[in-house]
Amino acid sequence: MARMAAFVCALIICIAIVPAAYGEYYTKSRHVPRKEKVTRLHFFLHDILSGKNPSAVKVAGSNRTEGDKSPTPFGSVYAIDDPLKVGPEPDSKTIGNAQGLYLSSSQDYSKFTIVMCVDFGFTKGKFKGSSFSVFSRNPVTEADREVAVVGGRGKFRMARGFAKVKTSYFNATNGDAVLEYKVTLIY
Ligand SMILES: *[C@@H]1O[C@H](CO)[C@@H](O)[C@H](O)[C@H]1NC(C)=O
Ligand SMILES: *[C@@H]1O[C@H](CO)[C@@H](O)[C@H](O)[C@H]1NC(C)=O
Repeated sequence: MARMAAFVCALIICIAIVPAAYGEYYTKSRHVPRKEKVTRLHFFLHDILSGKNPSAVKVAGSNRTEGDKSPTPFGSVYAIDDPLKVGPEPDSKTIGNAQGLYLSSSQDYSKFTIVMCVDFGFTKGKFKGSSFSVFSRNPVTEADREVAVVGGRGKFRMARGFAKVKTSYFNATNGDAVLEYKVTLIY
């Protein structure tokens, strides 16, 4: 009888301690002290729309801008798998790729702007297999601009930061561009 009572007692305590299995959908929040690292990256993104093997392809657009002369009319959505290279030359060493989407987001063509939703991944060196994510407005016509880094994978897990972007080459006729990226990541 005493054993039974002890068992029932233990069961009640158990029920009280173990978070009710289907009670709440969250745990108690706690502070997680952690040391953060800062890494700076420097590379060139080659965004090629022209030729037989473009790295950026238009996947959607608005019929409102049909017949528009701009290679990137407002509302156009591009899917990209752009090589990341150490230099601006087409034959310089490839160290990764940027995959994702960008949207031509400004109705004012003199202020050509895109909104990027792009994952920058690396295939060489210390950060092979890791990537960081950019979700940001990018006012392309501004000489010196900044985009927001909102996350990362692998070694860049929980990353945040920013990238300073400069146009190294741009052809307004076909839209081809080479962009210099100087990235600061905190993670
Ligand atoms: C664009 O598509 C919409 C919906 O199909 C249609 O109502 C509109 O007339 C089209 N506009 C042009 C300029 O073709
Ligand atoms: C820009 O692209 C057009 C069309 O592909 C080409 O004819 C022209 O030579 C290019 N300009 C430069 C500076 O590369």
